[in-house]
Amino acid sequence: MSQALYIITGSSRGLGLGMAQEALAQGHRVLGLARQQASALQEHCEQWTADLAQPLDVAARLEAWLAQQPATDAVLINNAALLTDPGPSDAVPPLALSTALRVGLEAPLLLTAAFLRATAKWQTARKVVLISSGLGRRAMAGSAPYCAQKAGLDHFARAAALDEAIKPNGARIVSLAPGVIDTDMQVQLRSATGPGFPDRNVFADYHASGRLASPQAAAQAVLRYVARSDFGANPVADVRDA
Ligand SMILES: NC(=O)c1ccc[n+]([C@@H]2O[C@H](COP(=O)([O-])OP(=O)(O)OC[C@H]3O[C@@H](n4cnc5c(N)ncnc54)[C@H](OP(=O)(O)O)[C@@H]3O)[C@@H](O)[C@H]2O)c1
Repeated sequence: MSQALYIITGSSRGLGLGMAQEALAQGHRVLGLARQQASALQEHCEQWTADLAQPLDVAARLEAWLAQQPATDAVLINNAALLTDPGPSDAVPPLALSTALRVGLEAPLLLTAAFLRATAKWQTARKVVLISSGLGRRAMAGSAPYCAQKAGLDHFARAAALDEAIKPNGARIVSLAPGVIDTDMQVQLRSATGPGFPDRNVFADYHASGRLASPQAAAQAVLRYVARSDFGANPVADVRDA
């Protein structure tokens, strides 16, 4: 893609910050969304302070903003997500469960719909990435809300890609697993102390054995995937796919 507009949720830290920095380094324009702004992005791109647990407001704001932008190649990366404390779902406080699903599943669907509507007439390349996880494809005890979010994103991508395929110049959509990354989310997993999370040591081992990718390396892998000519051929993919 030549210079494109990248809209990245969860741009304040972790993978999202890495992707914003990488997109800027490649000469793209970036709009970042998160509850906090990243000082590393200040003066380099527009950042919105946005709580994706209130996704209707954010999606409406994005749609109105996009309607004012000139047509350009554009990529929406739905990256923001959060974990509830590992353990069985009946032990998760109801508000925490609802918030996780709003941020991790409801917001990506609403933002994607807003993006598709606002850019429908653009005769440009339009791409949507939903940052998924191996846990959307493989169940694990102690993380049912997270598994459900990510499986939901995967199947949304399959169905939405079919919708776009029958439109003239439809967007291309991929639910993409980014690998295992050295971010706050991994700290939360390996530091979990509650009952009902038998795989905690798997995450401790990822860290101890140096198997976590840096956010920068993972970000580069996602952006390389976005740039692939076959992006969208498989709506459910992994950055490690050949
Ligand atoms: N780390 C891994 O090993 C791994 C593996 C597979 C998939 N993933 C996926 O990769 C993505 C990024 O994960 P990460 O590891 O980078 O996580 P992270 O370090 O915990 O960062 C999460 C990001 O989401 C944002 N966020 C959380 N709640 C939000 C809210 N209510 N409104 C707006 N933004 C919110 C956070 O920003 P604020 O706190 O400023 O709002 C932050 O920028 C997620 O979708 C995750 O599921 C990660």
